[in-house]
Amino acid sequence: MPIERAAMQRIATGYERPPVIGALGSHSAIDIADGAAHEGFHTLILAQQGRERTYANYFRAQRDSSGKLVRGCIDETWTFPTFAESVAPSVQERLRQESVLLVPHRALSSYVPLEFIENELEVPILGSRNMLRIEERTERENYYTLLKAGGLPIPEAMPGPDAIDGLCIVKLPHAARRLERGFFTAASPEEFRIKSEQLIHDGTITAPDLATARIEKYVLGPVFNFNFFYSPLVPREDALELLGVDERRESSLDGLVRLPAAQQLEMSARHRIPEYTVVGHGTLTVRESLLEEVYRLGERFVEASRSRYAPGIIGPFCLQTCVDSAGQPTIFDVAVRIGGGTNIHLSLGHPYGNALWREPMSSGRRLAVEVKHALSEERLGELVT
Ligand SMILES: Nc1ncnc2c1ncn2[C@@H]1O[C@H](COP(=O)(O)OP(=O)(O)O)[C@@H](O)[C@H]1O
Ligand SMILES: [Mg+2]
Repeated sequence: MPIERAAMQRIATGYERPPVIGALGSHSAIDIADGAAHEGFHTLILAQQGRERTYANYFRAQRDSSGKLVRGCIDETWTFPTFAESVAPSVQERLRQESVLLVPHRALSSYVPLEFIENELEVPILGSRNMLRIEERTERENYYTLLKAGGLPIPEAMPGPDAIDGLCIVKLPHAARRLERGFFTAASPEEFRIKSEQLIHDGTITAPDLATARIEKYVLGPVFNFNFFYSPLVPREDALELLGVDERRESSLDGLVRLPAAQQLEMSARHRIPEYTVVGHGTLTVRESLLEEVYRLGERFVEASRSRYAPGIIGPFCLQTCVDSAGQPTIFDVAVRIGGGTNIHLSLGHPYGNALWREPMSSGRRLAVEVKHALSEERLGELVT
């Protein structure tokens, strides 16, 4: 049975102490904690053994006798053998006792099964619990169906490899590292066959994954990931904010493109096929005349999410696009929660967010500002699911 929103609203609004902002210790946890700490909240990280020192040690909060933060931003770290165990029912009880509001990010929806988040995670989530599943490309109802229904531009999908008639990208998981990608490109059915056979042979992808892979037109142009924020607390015309723009750094792709062509050609056929493992992020701004269209896309996404997944998007979300030479962004992926690339503006604030708020406004801080706003008007229920 899906968790009822009303139950989560009762828990959140029934907290007797100020809420503690919590997140799994990965992805954007430092940004979330930094922003929350800046706004005066206490923070809690649910860490996995072997990855806990970042939070428990290096970013541990130190406060003076008056409680003022003098170093770091993470008040408490609870460490578990696995992330999935960090939200076990016995832990949920403790999280509610500590007045925790959990911020969802991709590590939560990757390391904790979606069925569990939807049906068993009885801790208020700051954001849209019912939307997390649409990020899974293999779902029948996914972000592509939502974008299509909302009239948003997505890359043209190929019905199968035989339809490939120009550069396409084939999206499927990595054979062994299931959370990573086994993407490759092909410009013809023949190239698809040769490359996929090679990748299956190398153990990079599997035949069953290939059979259900999404094949879509490759959009030629730079990647712009637009980090938005939607506030349900203010009039609709003020509710959408563009905070910042990021791009990903991917291995081995970004290593390959830093080599001159002659050196690329010296590599084995196998190493010439790039891998797309995200290892970091860079910052961007967008040509100003494109902003109007960027906001249009953001607004349409908000409307589509509200009509299909009520209450719709709450808080941070990210539209990942390639922008073609006509200046048109095509959305190839969506984050229905804080995007990983928001880390680029951790603590510094996002360029557009700062221009709007007149002070450094990172995604983590923006979320904490929203919680404060809700608390001041006794409307916390509107932010949780
Ligand atoms: N249709 C496309 N055209 C061009 N590049 C693409 C396209 N789809 C994805 N990419 C590239 O592949 C990367 C990962 O794609 P994405 O769909 O975001 O996968 P994931 O869901 O694993 O994040 C993007 O950052 C972009 O560089
Ligand atoms: Mg992506």
